[in-house]
Amino acid sequence: MKEQELQKLNNKILEEHKDKEIVLGDGTVDSSIILVGEAPGANEVKLKKPFVGQAGKHLEEFLDILELQRKELYITNTVKFRPTRISKKTGRKINRAPSKKAIESFKEYLLTEIDIIKPDFIVTLGNIPLKTLVEDSNVKIGELHGKLQKVCINNKEYILFPLYHPAAVIYRKELKEVYYNDLYKLKEVLKKKVY
Ligand code: URA
Repeated sequence: MKEQELQKLNNKILEEHKDKEIVLGDGTVDSSIILVGEAPGANEVKLKKPFVGQAGKHLEEFLDILELQRKELYITNTVKFRPTRISKKTGRKINRAPSKKAIESFKEYLLTEIDIIKPDFIVTLGNIPLKTLVEDSNVKIGELHGKLQKVCINNKEYILFPLYHPAAVIYRKELKEVYYNDLYKLKEVLKKKVY
């Protein structure tokens, strides 16, 4: 049932964005956890799977700490294509943050995806999925990371756990400890199911 609904949604996304290289959500439809990233990068587009390549390495660390396997999760992105720009320095295509327009036009798909999966927990990575799901553009990951939030999607309440995006942790070394503390906190929450 969930598989069919998801298939229908995925067909719609592909149909409505024929001009783009779409990376769909991946994983177990019966998962109790949905992990939501920002947007795919080059490796994700190549392999048509979220969080592979460098991002996949971060995911492995995340899974190790939480003692979970990738196949136990459902993983997706807020925006399902790779936003790029041309680097002035190298003249090559590089990643950029997704535009407000892209976030807005892909939001409904994400909400429908969550409504189909109906996980116990939504874990967001970085500002983009957090702002999109909390529906408040003023919220900041710097203030909400590691703090349980409640969000309502299609009349159902969900627990959302905001994490920093692992890529931010690479650029801002001071966040590393904070990020790990949040991961261990999430582990406790998932284990005890206290919230
Ligand atoms: N890869 C993804 O699929 N999403 C991100 O947010 C980053 C890398």
